Amino acid sequence: MDLVPWLIFLLLALFSNPFFVYSSSSSSASRYIIQVEEPIEPQLTEASLKSWHESFLPSTVEESGADQRLLHSYSDVLNGFAAMLTEDELHEVGKKRGFVLPLVTTHTPDFLGLKVEKKGLWNDSKLGSGVIIGVLDTGVTPGHPSYDDEGVPPPPSKWKGRCDLETGCNNKLIGARSMFKGMGGRPPIDEYGHGTCTSSTVAGNFVRNASYFGLANGTAAGMAPRAHLAIYQVCHSYGCNVSDILAGLEAGIKDGVDIFSISIGGGSALDQDLIAIGSFAAARKGIFVSCGAGNDGPDNFTLCNEAPWVLTVAASSIDRSFRASVKLPNGKVILGVSLDQPRNFTKNSLPLYYSTESRACDMDPPDDSHRGSVWVCEADGRFPKDVAAFVKSHGARALIYISPKVEATTILMTELNFPGIWLTSQDGSDLISYLISASNHSASIIFNGTTDLGISPSPVVAFFSSRGPSKTTPGILKPDISGPGLDILTAWIPSGDAPEYAIKSGTSISTPHLSGVAALLKATHPTWSPAAIKSAILTTADANMLDELLEPALYFTKGAGHVNPNKAVDPGLIYDITDDDYISYICGKFGKKRARIIARGVVDCSKRMREEELNYPSILLAPKAKATAKTFVSATVTPKTLAFTKLNEQKSFTVRVKWGSGGPPTSDIKFVEGKLTWISDDGKHVVTSPLIIYAPK
Ligand SMILES: *[C@@H]1O[C@H](CO)[C@@H](O)[C@H](O)[C@H]1NC(C)=O
Ligand SMILES: *[C@@H]1O[C@H](CO)[C@@H](O)[C@H](O)[C@H]1NC(C)=O
Ligand SMILES: *[C@@H]1O[C@H](CO)[C@@H](O)[C@H](O)[C@H]1NC(C)=O
Ligand SMILES: *[C@@H]1O[C@H](CO)[C@@H](O)[C@H](O)[C@H]1NC(C)=O
Ligand SMILES: *[C@@H]1O[C@H](CO)[C@@H](O)[C@H](O)[C@H]1NC(C)=O
Ligand SMILES: *[C@@H]1O[C@H](CO)[C@@H](O)[C@H](O)[C@H]1NC(C)=O
Ligand SMILES: *[C@@H]1O[C@H](CO)[C@@H](O)[C@H](O)[C@H]1NC(C)=O
Ligand SMILES: *[C@@H]1O[C@H](CO)[C@@H](O)[C@H](O)[C@H]1NC(C)=O
Repeated sequence: MDLVPWLIFLLLALFSNPFFVYSSSSSSASRYIIQVEEPIEPQLTEASLKSWHESFLPSTVEESGADQRLLHSYSDVLNGFAAMLTEDELHEVGKKRGFVLPLVTTHTPDFLGLKVEKKGLWNDSKLGSGVIIGVLDTGVTPGHPSYDDEGVPPPPSKWKGRCDLETGCNNKLIGARSMFKGMGGRPPIDEYGHGTCTSSTVAGNFVRNASYFGLANGTAAGMAPRAHLAIYQVCHSYGCNVSDILAGLEAGIKDGVDIFSISIGGGSALDQDLIAIGSFAAARKGIFVSCGAGNDGPDNFTLCNEAPWVLTVAASSIDRSFRASVKLPNGKVILGVSLDQPRNFTKNSLPLYYSTESRACDMDPPDDSHRGSVWVCEADGRFPKDVAAFVKSHGARALIYISPKVEATTILMTELNFPGIWLTSQDGSDLISYLISASNHSASIIFNGTTDLGISPSPVVAFFSSRGPSKTTPGILKPDISGPGLDILTAWIPSGDAPEYAIKSGTSISTPHLSGVAALLKATHPTWSPAAIKSAILTTADANMLDELLEPALYFTKGAGHVNPNKAVDPGLIYDITDDDYISYICGKFGKKRARIIARGVVDCSKRMREEELNYPSILLAPKAKATAKTFVSATVTPKTLAFTKLNEQKSFTVRVKWGSGGPPTSDIKFVEGKLTWISDDGKHVVTSPLIIYAPK
């Protein structure tokens, strides 16, 4: 077999979790991913690919067991391999074949939630029948009712995946395997809950009478209840090695998945982020990839997973609230929320305890006189559960927990295992003002155990949802879209008293909602490209959304807006992007050498595109210079009308923008927002693109 003469390398500065940065000292081995120069022989079997990759390892490694050191062999996501190497060994690989650089290999799974509704598209798509969704996560809980296959047809004949569950798979759960080295064939059992949550959110079957201790009771279902699930275990509860994520992408591509759902926080730099590189290989094969925007909001520039070929998903609230309230002696009722609502809690008035010396309830009280009181505590960075345990240890009857200011109206609730009510920072201040001024320090706590629907305003973007602009792709609007991700009822691992469902929040939960919507669109329109599906989702979104401060949300916060699945099924027009367009974009952005890494091997860089030239469904423009226009910004579109006579016809148009001298903006990131809308003659189709115009530098 011909060995290629040299290696090219990936420089990787991925998202690094300080707990998982591997030592690169010469005595201990670290994980590296090494990309091998093309060509790869097309007909290599799995075994010969592996031994070919082993031949790249230094001879010392081969003697000590290359099999132990080679972690994964890749051929679809990239041409290369992952291996455990010491620094000395790495040097040897480098000396023999070229450069190799270290890789920081950890990503973290982050949380998100689920919604039970939507007609119309459910009917058109037959609930997602026939679509295979690959979920890269912490594994699966076999036997959970969400994976029941009642009403789910057998998988399509293209499915080639494996099932390593002892209990076997069914028509819902068609594949399940672990990508951890040395775990081949071992069942990918979820020990965390995250993977159970995300997979049930995307495609869980209908489960009647699901609830979390009676809260959010009703019929639970994923977004595409008749779609198939293929589970790839790539993360532990404490993190994920990027080489395993790549192995999951590789396996899913080979197995025949249609959609990848990846609720894993990743890197940002496109050419250095292996999720971006692996998902590009998937997108070129027609696979739709949906990823979380990250939970690092509300600061700007906090996104991850921003490649133009993936859907980057923000998280928002839904119109449901787990109400609990505090009734003051003056009759005033302060509305809060709670996941811990004991049915038998007293309706009587109880004394309140709040100490200005210990506002966060972090100091022992001077005496025992506050046993039996309801303690009022302000957030201070400790886990709320720990605060609850502390007040419980001092004999408190209940906890009123005042959320951090940053959360604003989108309180991030977690289980307290103690009667508790969460108030917004604003409502908390009102309560404290009352306590400081009033003489009667008492209140009744109302736990109705009810779930209020129709909460307004909703949806509202959650404070934690990461914000743009993208540092990596400033010419492309990211995040792309918002979906439900706050206080969502989702399947969970049952244990002891804990039920099979939990209430969770995060972009990890909005992501599978969008993966599920993509599956429904794919089932309805099997020939649509991933870019076409994205275009349909973005151009039909509901742009009218608020942020956590209840101010109109910026595009850099909400993306195009909140997903509207029933409109997305019939968008009217599509902004499509071909493989060649992406290559031209990559060439234009990174140059030929790095384009070869991202696009695997031989690429034609004769055409180079600027970021804004990509046919993306949202439009970001940066005028080169100020014009002397009367208004401070103006935009024109030519032609004003596009006449289509047949299906799949293409038309082009030009958007020109001018930035004048007058007017704002005064904000940190200087831009103005607008939108570009095409309306069909009959008014039935409204195709809207967000339009952002940056101020000239
Ligand atoms: C449901 O879908 C079928 C095709 O699968 C269609 O014939 C029918 O009209 C749809 N019903 C509604 C209410 O949209
Ligand atoms: C619903 O579930 C609750 C407990 O989870 C149970 O007590 C009740 O009997 C169930 N109702 C039905 C109709 O199955
Ligand atoms: C939830 O439970 C309440 C009380 O048990 C009941 O009245 C209500 O109908 C249930 N809701 C659903 C959607 O099942
Ligand atoms: C990453 O891989 C190393 C080496 O195989 C392993 O020890 C570690 O547990 C893995 N970390 C995660 C988060 O999977
Ligand atoms: C304080 O208010 C509660 C509830 O209205 C009432 O029951 C209680 O008697 C009041 N205590 C005093 C000292 O006024
Ligand atoms: C309320 O019920 C729980 C268990 O259902 C029990 O442990 C607790 O003691 C009860 N509390 C009161 C005040 O009755
Ligand atoms: C609790 O229930 C009572 C009576 O059903 C109702 O008047 C009140 O508005 C409810 N409070 C909350 C906070 O849901
Ligand atoms: C993010 O940028 C926007 C627009 O410039 C600005 O209004 C906002 O204050 C920024 N947010 C933060 C948290 O700095």
